[in-house]
Amino acid sequence: MATRIALLIITVLFYPCSLVSGETDPNDFAVLIEFRKGLTNPQLLKWPETGDDPCGPPLWPHVFCSGFRVTQIQVQNLGLSGRLPNNFNQLSKLENLGFQRNNFSGPLPSFSGLSNLQYAYLVSNQFDTIPSDFFSGLTSLLEIALDQNPLNQSSGWSIPRDLQASTQLRNLSLIQCNVVGELPDFLGTMPMLTALKLSYNTLSGELPASFAGLMLEILWLNNQDGAGISGGLDVLTTMASLTDAWLHGNGFSGPIPPAIGACTSLTRLWLNNNNLVGLIPRNLITLPRLQSLKLENNKLMGPIPDVKIANFTYSSNSFCESAPGVPCSLEVTALLEFLAGVNYPLKLASSWGGNDPCAGFWEGVSCSGGKVSVINLPNFNLSGSISPSLGELDSLVDVRLGGNNLSGSMPANLTDLKMLRLINVSANNLVPPVPKFSRSVTLLTDGNPLLKAPSSLPPSLPPSPTTTISSPTEPVTPETPNSGKPSSFHSSTSIHHNGSAKVKSNHFDKLKIMIIVAVVVVLLILILILLIFVKRRGKKDSTNASTSVVVHPKDSSDSDNRVKLSVIEASQCSSSTGSMLSRARSVEEGNLTISVQLLRSSTKNFAPENVVGRGGFGVVYKGTLHDGMRIAVKRMEADSLSNKALDEFQAEIAVLSRVRHRNLVCLLGYSIEGSERLLVYEYLPKGALSKHLFQWRKLCLEPLSWKKRLNIALDVARGMEYLHSLTKECFIHRDLKSSNILLDDDYRAKVSDFGLVKLAPNGNNSVVTKLAGTFGYLAPEYAVTGKITTKADVYSFGVVLMELITGMAALDDDRPEETRYLASWFAEIKSDKEKLRDAVDSALGADKEEIFNSISTVADLAGHCAAREPYKRPEMGYAVNVLASLANKWKPCDDEQEVFFGVDLQKPLIQLVKIWQDDETSCENSLELDDNSKGSIPAKPAGFAESFTSADGR
Ligand SMILES: *[C@@H]1O[C@H](CO)[C@@H](O)[C@H](O)[C@H]1NC(C)=O
Ligand SMILES: *[C@@H]1O[C@H](CO)[C@@H](O)[C@H](O)[C@H]1NC(C)=O
Ligand SMILES: *[C@@H]1O[C@H](CO)[C@@H](O)[C@H](O)[C@H]1NC(C)=O
Ligand SMILES: *[C@@H]1O[C@H](CO)[C@@H](O)[C@H](O)[C@H]1NC(C)=O
Ligand SMILES: *[C@@H]1O[C@H](CO)[C@@H](O)[C@H](O)[C@H]1NC(C)=O
Repeated sequence: MATRIALLIITVLFYPCSLVSGETDPNDFAVLIEFRKGLTNPQLLKWPETGDDPCGPPLWPHVFCSGFRVTQIQVQNLGLSGRLPNNFNQLSKLENLGFQRNNFSGPLPSFSGLSNLQYAYLVSNQFDTIPSDFFSGLTSLLEIALDQNPLNQSSGWSIPRDLQASTQLRNLSLIQCNVVGELPDFLGTMPMLTALKLSYNTLSGELPASFAGLMLEILWLNNQDGAGISGGLDVLTTMASLTDAWLHGNGFSGPIPPAIGACTSLTRLWLNNNNLVGLIPRNLITLPRLQSLKLENNKLMGPIPDVKIANFTYSSNSFCESAPGVPCSLEVTALLEFLAGVNYPLKLASSWGGNDPCAGFWEGVSCSGGKVSVINLPNFNLSGSISPSLGELDSLVDVRLGGNNLSGSMPANLTDLKMLRLINVSANNLVPPVPKFSRSVTLLTDGNPLLKAPSSLPPSLPPSPTTTISSPTEPVTPETPNSGKPSSFHSSTSIHHNGSAKVKSNHFDKLKIMIIVAVVVVLLILILILLIFVKRRGKKDSTNASTSVVVHPKDSSDSDNRVKLSVIEASQCSSSTGSMLSRARSVEEGNLTISVQLLRSSTKNFAPENVVGRGGFGVVYKGTLHDGMRIAVKRMEADSLSNKALDEFQAEIAVLSRVRHRNLVCLLGYSIEGSERLLVYEYLPKGALSKHLFQWRKLCLEPLSWKKRLNIALDVARGMEYLHSLTKECFIHRDLKSSNILLDDDYRAKVSDFGLVKLAPNGNNSVVTKLAGTFGYLAPEYAVTGKITTKADVYSFGVVLMELITGMAALDDDRPEETRYLASWFAEIKSDKEKLRDAVDSALGADKEEIFNSISTVADLAGHCAAREPYKRPEMGYAVNVLASLANKWKPCDDEQEVFFGVDLQKPLIQLVKIWQDDETSCENSLELDDNSKGSIPAKPAGFAESFTSADGR
């Protein structure tokens, strides 16, 4: 009995105890059970199958409680798979959640109302939707991270405004989870926010002004998909606590604000891969804690500072020198100050790189005698003011800034410029005062509303009929005798210009003298102009004769200038074609002339159906000689050729026919009869490379494999190397492009059309001065100056490599602006492996990955070849080496090479011909040269470079 009582007492005593241990809030318990049910591998939790008391004791693994309520679940890194229950937010006392690095999938449940939740880590799972009320009522939230979940992948999501109620929030991390749209303003009102990580999303728009003054330490906004976050960096300079700013891979623009010096805690500032312009401010590089500064791939300018920062990267900008610590030349410094005055328009910021404004690629800048003489930026959308630094460019002759949005006044020290002849600032928004220029300067200021009725203009002066307001000098001044000096060429032009407005004096004698002087001056000018003109012409002729520009040296040994060419030996002309022709040719053995009659009959009298292409200077026909041999005949429109040009034509042929290389299309012969000029080439059955790269779908061709492309690149490189250096004379092709690269049966390539540019039947002068080439392939310095070296060919070769990699044509007006010019776009993406991967021609198929190393080596080579500065481009020999080592890795192709180059000459001719003919598929109706007249440049003297480059879109 006593024992029974004792037991009862014990029971009574301990009852409350058992009540505590067995009574986890049933609601919380139910949610945990639901959670376990949703998992595909719940055993990993090691929760008891039968227990009903997670808050224990003993506590269930990974669960923490306070009293009967669950406050934490910590299951990070367990490899759990499955879905979370919908009613998850009924764990209303939850404070801390560690779900990161599992394999949870399905929708995130709403966390709405978890008012005790402080920490929530859900990083690296497979959650695929986030409900719109997820963040509502999370009033205690301190840190939340949802990184690396494919949330709302198809449409993206933006951060709901509900989060604004989480006023304690310190860390918000949403890296790579499909956040789209602009950065929400309200984040700028969250007082405790110290770490904001939003990298690898699709954010756009600008840094909100509300972010000013945020006490952020970490700001990661890097690598946004699409255009990225844009606008300036000014807001950054107000974040005094900032230590880590990762803003790379966006579209930030404008200069780096000097006020960045206020961010004294900055240790890592990564601004690479944006569109930043301007100079690197001193305040940036003197930041006391800065350890890592990345600036590469922007449009930054000026000198590279010599800094003591541990990690400093700066490549691919528009700096003037490539080494740190080297100052820019005075001219460049002055021009960059001018650019700063007009807020660094992006186009100019990318074009005005290097330390030589006269290198030929500075848009809107022309030089004479190696110094800047013309600034030509009319209608360029410039805003800002005209920098006084222009006053330091003492060779300036013309300044053309009309039709912009320039404000402020004209700097006074422009009047210091001794050579200045013209300033056109018409149609801007300038304000007075207008400085007093000397009479030799023509000043055009009309269309500046605030300069109307300039005070310096005498009221009696009638408005000039051309609304040209000349320099504000007196109509009649004692300077007149001055302008009579023959040396003062400019001042006389200005009299000439404004003479009508100046007949105003009452003093007849003075007037008479003036008229006489003016007449004399005009006469003098006319004589001067005549002299200059004659001299120019003489010069032109002499450059024509000189071989300093090594384009096509004449064959001077040929005294009578008649072409007597030896029979082409088969071994020289790559394949059996030569020997076949020498057999087939029925006329004039020992000479390359072929009768027009023969060519007429072989092309069915130049029948339209035999047209295979239209080159810059004629139509190309395919033809078949009577013995079955196939040829390509180029018929030049030559009716305007003079005798002299005719001689030149023959002399050129003499040279061209000596150029023999297996990777150059062989000139087999020619015809001159009456007005006919015909060139006969070997026929390449697979036609132009461009067809196989850009039109293979339309023409139902097989897309080229990477192996074929490599071999084609190598062939072209070898042909060009030969042209450049292996012959005694140095040849420059001037128009290398994929439509001038022809393919043989085995897809081995030959370069065609070399040297023919000089044969343009456009009248004598233009033959000499013709600027040849095709937009998209033109080396910038050649496009601008017309001066040509072998490096211009290397540039074009680089563009061809880009075409081989991307399958995109060098220039396509149908593409968006960003990618229109392959060369400039490619230069931007080539160093980013991912972007390069995306740019690789999809026609290369699924094995992209294994060839990617090879592709990226070629991409490097392409970038190298198309370097902006000619001296940075390699010789073709270098390209041959790089490509040969890549092509060698494809061992099986060696036998292929045998088949191609070791043409079996023992094989009966007719059999060879048959092989060629059989190869033609029904699809190939347009063989040979593509239409390359479309992109060709009309003859233009080199001096017209400005209009030329602007047409080029750079
Ligand atoms: C995650 O789940 C997917 C299927 O949903 C499965 O293929 C994958 O192996 C899982 N990963 C891990 C680490 O368990
Ligand atoms: C995510 O997508 C779901 C379903 O498409 C939608 O209901 C929800 O509102 C989206 N989330 C956000 C935050 O917009
Ligand atoms: C939250 O941000 C601070 C920096 O502001 C950082 O030190 C801390 O590690 C962050 N917390 C987490 C979990 O990343
Ligand atoms: C500098 O860069 C190297 C290599 O990228 C890295 O290992 C190192 O930690 C960086 N140092 C600093 C101070 O960021
Ligand atoms: C031009 O004027 C500015 C002030 O307006 C002055 O600082 C600068 O030195 C001047 N430059 C020259 C070349 O006179």
